[in-house]
Amino acid sequence: MSESEPMPATSALPQSDPLGLFDRWMAEARASEPNDSNAMALATATPDGRPSVRMVLLKGHGPDGFTFYTNADSRKGEQIRANAHAALLFHWKSLRRQIRIEGPLSQVADDVADEYFHSRARASQLGAVASDQSRPLDDRATFVERYRAAEERFEGGEVERPEYWTGFTLSPERIEFWLNRENRLHDRRLFTRDPGGDGWTSTLLYP
Ligand SMILES: Cc1cc2nc3c(=O)[nH]c(=O)nc-3n(C[C@H](O)[C@H](O)[C@H](O)COP(=O)(O)O)c2cc1C
Repeated sequence: MSESEPMPATSALPQSDPLGLFDRWMAEARASEPNDSNAMALATATPDGRPSVRMVLLKGHGPDGFTFYTNADSRKGEQIRANAHAALLFHWKSLRRQIRIEGPLSQVADDVADEYFHSRARASQLGAVASDQSRPLDDRATFVERYRAAEERFEGGEVERPEYWTGFTLSPERIEFWLNRENRLHDRRLFTRDPGGDGWTSTLLYP
């Protein structure tokens, strides 16, 4: 920006309706990102505060929160069982946007997990049966054998959803939008859920 150009003195982020803004940014990401626009980093922590983070896919969102599916016996699943607080992060590099979301997780109902599990490709369902997620694997051939065994077991029928394979929904208490602006004068707006649970209070943050 040259000396004579004015600095934009207003925020480009709306003051209300964070879930509507999330929808718009998600739709724009879907239209522009070549792969996995719904990929998000999921941070969990042990009860004594040791964090870990990994990518998962957002498979549903709405007023109740943000849902992903996984193996509840995995490392993340063990952490979630012991400490329900988690954080999500979306970063769309080409759009230069970030969204951070924090809140407690709860497990989806069995019928919701069943419905999503059976909407997946059969190979993905069999993969979920065969994978002992996060556990040591002696040899990749063992995994392939377990996959073949699952194929045989469910041949000609529906693949049964393993009890450990389920979804979690993060109920947002904080949602923060970050937007790239000129001269690194980026725009940040934080929404915090009101104590009653219905409305949101928003504030700008220094970048
Ligand atoms: C783009 C991307 C999307 C992923 N989506 C999922 C997912 O939706 N669910 C899942 O369990 N793992 C997913 N993974 C694998 C996880 O990042 C991770 O390796 C796995 O869940 C085990 O994590 P944990 O040992 O911390 O439990 C994804 C990985 C990548 C790179």
